[in-house]
Amino acid sequence: MQKNLIRWYQENHRDFPWRQNENPYFIWISEIMLQQTTTEAVIPYFERFIKTFPTIQQLADASLEDVYKLWEGLGYYRRAKHIHETAQIIAEQYHGVFPTTYQEILSLKGIGPYTAGAICSIAYHQSTPAIDGNVLRIMSRLYLLKDNIALTKTQKKISDIVAKLLTGYDSSAFNQGLMDLGATICRPLQPRCEQCPISDFCLAFKSNQQKVLPINIKNIKHKEIHYITGIITYQDQFLFIQNPAGLLENLYGLIQYEQESPYRFIEEFEQQYEIPLSIVSHITDIKHVFTHRTWQMHVYHFVLSQPIDGLYTLEEINQLPISTAHLKVLKAFLKNRD
Ligand code: ADE
Repeated sequence: MQKNLIRWYQENHRDFPWRQNENPYFIWISEIMLQQTTTEAVIPYFERFIKTFPTIQQLADASLEDVYKLWEGLGYYRRAKHIHETAQIIAEQYHGVFPTTYQEILSLKGIGPYTAGAICSIAYHQSTPAIDGNVLRIMSRLYLLKDNIALTKTQKKISDIVAKLLTGYDSSAFNQGLMDLGATICRPLQPRCEQCPISDFCLAFKSNQQKVLPINIKNIKHKEIHYITGIITYQDQFLFIQNPAGLLENLYGLIQYEQESPYRFIEEFEQQYEIPLSIVSHITDIKHVFTHRTWQMHVYHFVLSQPIDGLYTLEEINQLPISTAHLKVLKAFLKNRD
């Protein structure tokens, strides 16, 4: 498989200006530009950039405005700022010579595992994987991996597979071969399997699942929600409501709104219940972790000036099914009060 891919890359690779030499500085600039921008859009910017700043020292000596000017139209301008800062660090700490180890390169501003791996393999022929969306897709198909590629765990697993595959082969041609394969053949929607140099090894192709894989389900990711959570009292009673459908259905809980301030909480409450509410104090902030989400509860004490439905004494509350999250909140309030 490796030999097929590398031969295919050597014979068919796309001609890009950043593929004309192995200067790590040029590879770095190209990889940063290619992070959020298409190859066609990057070409003129890359050529202008290295013509204006042929060395890291010249980039470090330039003003930030000059760098921004060259970046104009590429978007994501933070990249330009990071490049300028990093050039100055390389000029000072590495005497203007681009660092050579994966760890040193990874520690530079704006460089993550993908970019560090791409630079080390392309410029130095080190056996480092460079895992991006293309590689996750290709490996899912090649090995018929049904794991969700949105998960870090899956990305790690694929990175380990690629690291093994690379070892002993031309890692530059292998990684760039995967980039070109992902862009032209092993595409997301209409893969051109009949032209693929490694289809003989592809388990998805063998079982006709190339249009099913990869599995990429993003919103299983852990979500963090901030709430203003209200301990709403009337004399010695507390307001609890029964949750409608959804998470914690039918359990009793405190009223909480996805708001940024207790004053917005009051507005929302008064709109919903048409009863005035006054604020007493900030009690505490409590975090509660569920499987797929975390609640950050900013707990405030409010008082009602008249009774409404849903008020319970502490004794009555003991008999109600209450969510653990809000039980923690109530306990914190009572402890605070004592
Ligand atoms: N996308 C990201 N890096 C690339 C490279 N070196 N060649 C082509 N496309 C790329």
